[in-house]
Amino acid sequence: MRRMLVTGGAGFIGANFCHYWTAAHPEDRIVVLDALTYAGNLASIAALEADGKLRFVRGDIGDAALLQSLFRDERIDTVVNFAAESHVDRSILDPAGFLRTNVLGTQVLLEAAQAAWAGGAAEAPRRFHHVSTDEVYGSLAAGEAAFTESTPYAPNSPYAASKAAADHLVRAYNRTYGLPTTISNCSNNYGPYQFPEKLLPLCILNILEGRPLPIYGDGQQVRDWLHVSDHCRAIELILQRSAAAETWNVGGDTQDPNITVVGMLCDLVDQCFAQEPQLRQRFPHSAAARGAPARSLMQHVRDRPGHDRRYAVDSTRIGQRLGFRAATSLTAGLAHTVRWYLDNESWWRAVASGEYREWYARQYGGSRPA
Ligand code: NAD
Ligand code: DAU
Repeated sequence: MRRMLVTGGAGFIGANFCHYWTAAHPEDRIVVLDALTYAGNLASIAALEADGKLRFVRGDIGDAALLQSLFRDERIDTVVNFAAESHVDRSILDPAGFLRTNVLGTQVLLEAAQAAWAGGAAEAPRRFHHVSTDEVYGSLAAGEAAFTESTPYAPNSPYAASKAAADHLVRAYNRTYGLPTTISNCSNNYGPYQFPEKLLPLCILNILEGRPLPIYGDGQQVRDWLHVSDHCRAIELILQRSAAAETWNVGGDTQDPNITVVGMLCDLVDQCFAQEPQLRQRFPHSAAARGAPARSLMQHVRDRPGHDRRYAVDSTRIGQRLGFRAATSLTAGLAHTVRWYLDNESWWRAVASGEYREWYARQYGGSRPA
């Protein structure tokens, strides 16, 4: 039985991980620590908390005293660190918060684990797993080989730089103090509970509300899309099978330009409207309700500064050594994701208000989302 601290467990991937882990390992004790920033949403894991499947604690990974008491009182033996500021565009507008949480916060969390685990009798195998990103490797040119675990770090955004710095600290705590760490560098996730500042949920909501779909630059930037359930399984395999001090790349093997992926989303939503006429009443501003294809909403806008052109992740090593392979095709994963947002309108209506409206106006100018 594990006693696991999941930081950032009310965010997109963290919440999916909590659902995944509590179903697969009901015997484990799960404590979620999350500051509930704009991206954290207790509603994403409220059912698990209500069913006694996890304990939720609101707090900051930079709060050393809180961490000390959690490690002591809960006898934590496993940490999975999802907590971070995660959106590249926000890091461009305001980098300081990214350094606070992603760099300094990670160091405080590492220190707390080190202090709690150092010298004690080995009750259970301990593990500090840090969730990182493929963005630390920078940008690939067309045709250039995919990122491997030995690709040099070359981060291009303040977000990516902060994640790179955190990875270096995790490595240093392992090499210097012997903290049993692992790191995963993962490609773009998508799926349920994703905050609608990220490309795919933003486009789904904008299609339903009849707002423009903002395509940065020429839309030919390539991302390696991974369904979040596959990411959760990869982390499970790492926790179960990886030795400490290892780093693992995790990708979805689906590399498509943004404009292609947004086009696929448009077609999927159009299909849902064609099959379910009542959607026109539920979403009267949608393109379909006005008799237009969702693709008509696509609009090229000013490019992101320093925009990475292409990511591609080579998952050969985690495939060969830990048996991981992404199981969800992009088409099936996008269809499932569209369905989830159609079926969970109250979830996204709640998160797409308040701070989100302010952010949307600042980022995209002009009209605010309804
Ligand atoms: P998210 O923004 O949806 O969630 C982040 C969570 O962390 C939120 O619940 C937020 O409240 C919490 N948080 C932020 N600052 C905190 C702090 N100081 N203390 C405690 N909690 C805090 O992000 P996500 O997309 O779920 O990403 C999770 C992790 O995975 C991040 O570390 C991110 O860098 C990494 N990652 C994300 C992707 C992706 O495509 N989304 C891909 C690779 C890696
Ligand atoms: O690669 C992993 C990373 O993926 C994670 O580390 C980050 O936390 C996560 O946010 C994501 O970063 P991206 O910048 O790739 O994701 P985002 O959804 O912001 O953008 C995906 C692509 O779509 C990117 O090329 C920028 C583009 N884009 C994004 C938005 C929000 C647009 O064209 N228009 C938009 O409005």
